[in-house]
Amino acid sequence: MGIQWRDSLAIGVEAVDNQHKELLLRFDRLLNACQAGQGIEELKRLQKFLGEYVQTHFSDEEELQRLHHYPGYEAHHAEHVYFIDQIKKLEAETIKDGVSTHHVVETNNMLLKWLLNHISKVDKELGAFIKSGTP
Ligand SMILES: [Fe+2]
Repeated sequence: MGIQWRDSLAIGVEAVDNQHKELLLRFDRLLNACQAGQGIEELKRLQKFLGEYVQTHFSDEEELQRLHHYPGYEAHHAEHVYFIDQIKKLEAETIKDGVSTHHVVETNNMLLKWLLNHISKVDKELGAFIKSGTP
């Protein structure tokens, strides 16, 4: 069981799609590591990566929204803030208590449920908006 990029996730903005592909690739690594019994080690790597990459990715996306005067900016931004908050909470827990299977499962859940849902709904709406304004 892994997670693969699929074209139905594309929002039609190449730079954003490429960042989403990278996120999914890293997530897939975590799933594969879990299967190999190395989820805890991989989670540490993933947290380090997410901490930087997600911030950059979200701010790139938000810059695009400001550029296009996107009316859904506030709601979209709030979703990003929520995700970063959840990721930070999980990271803080792992620093405090050490990484456990519970954290691996929680991170998987966040990425599976939240991220994929966000890409396929909220980011897609953004992509459609941008495309509709492109002559
Ligand atoms: Fe987004």
